[in-house]
Amino acid sequence: MSTQKHTTVWQGAGRRIHMQEVGTRDGLQAETAFVPTEDKIALVNALSEAGLAKIEVTSFVSPKAIPALRDAEQVLREIRRVPGVVYTALVPNVRGAERAIESKADELNLVMSASESHNLSNLRMTREQSFAGLADVVRAVQGSGVAINVSLSCAFGCPMEGDVPVPVVLDWCRRFVEELGAGGVTLCDTTGMAYPTQVADLTRAFRVHWPERELTLHFHNTRGMGLANVIAAIDAGADRFDASIGGIGGCPYAPGASGNVCTEEIVHALALMGYDTGVDLPRLLDAAGQLPALIGHDVPSQILKAGRRLDLHPRPSDFAEIAQRAAARG
Ligand code: COA
Ligand code: ZN
Repeated sequence: MSTQKHTTVWQGAGRRIHMQEVGTRDGLQAETAFVPTEDKIALVNALSEAGLAKIEVTSFVSPKAIPALRDAEQVLREIRRVPGVVYTALVPNVRGAERAIESKADELNLVMSASESHNLSNLRMTREQSFAGLADVVRAVQGSGVAINVSLSCAFGCPMEGDVPVPVVLDWCRRFVEELGAGGVTLCDTTGMAYPTQVADLTRAFRVHWPERELTLHFHNTRGMGLANVIAAIDAGADRFDASIGGIGGCPYAPGASGNVCTEEIVHALALMGYDTGVDLPRLLDAAGQLPALIGHDVPSQILKAGRRLDLHPRPSDFAEIAQRAAARG
């Protein structure tokens, strides 16, 4: 019998997984109600204290395209920054990059889509026009010290075109890394089309080509495969995930989009499996608990409703109490 330690994806064994919160960007952009600026700032501050590795604070896009985030400057300037946390912002063009840098973003998260149809509806450009625009951004910010990540939307399929061929996805990744010099790439499952087998294959392929590059996986739970996809990605070598507190989120320009994988659900599950996410779950749950009041409706988070696995309920002391509880439930 071999004495060699054999760890599988089911034994976290203290391995570090970096959790990146996107609720204040991907989440709030999908809300019709405008969340007051001071509430957004308080939410980011609470998330910073909860131990997330990176927070996508907001986006510097056209306020006509995303009115919910029209206060991006003020939010990014007025948050309380915790050392070690990377504060990033989504940026579609040079104008957005200038605004983000003025507001002291640590990183610019540039975005384009692997699908021509989604790129046209989301950004009103062809993919080649978008790529040229991203190259302009990279040139414009050279020497500023700001980090560059590129998010590739619809990397696991497009709601209008169907599957995007893997070589197409990998070729965009290659151009981000080799032509733009991006420090990180995020593969986004914009409308929850990814499934574990596909996730494992694409993650592995990316890792083979660019083993040292920061790779993030960005899943939406639209078809209930979010957690399975996260685990498949870890098994294939990923250690960085975007997620959204409460499980809110979705691209307003992608038909059928819905919430991101839920940060507290992923943290809860990974902690049980022995992974180190660095996140303080009770603090995260406190922050998530404030969301329904902030956005005016219930959120998808299951942990917020059910509590953690071992958040036990008091036992009834006798039959009279059982009867009383039943009566109280109506
Ligand atoms: N910040 C602020 N304003 C911006 C801006 C930015 N980054 N980029 C463009 N604008 C303004 C322009 O000044 C212009 O304003 P005006 O009408 O008052 O003159 C208006 O937006 C349109 O600009 P234009 O360059 O013609 O762009 P467009 O209308 O083709 O829109 C985008 C292109 C990319 C700017 C816009 O579609 C956008 O912001 N999309 C983001 C969508 C998004 O965030 N989706 C979810 C995340 S994936
Ligand atoms: Zn998303």
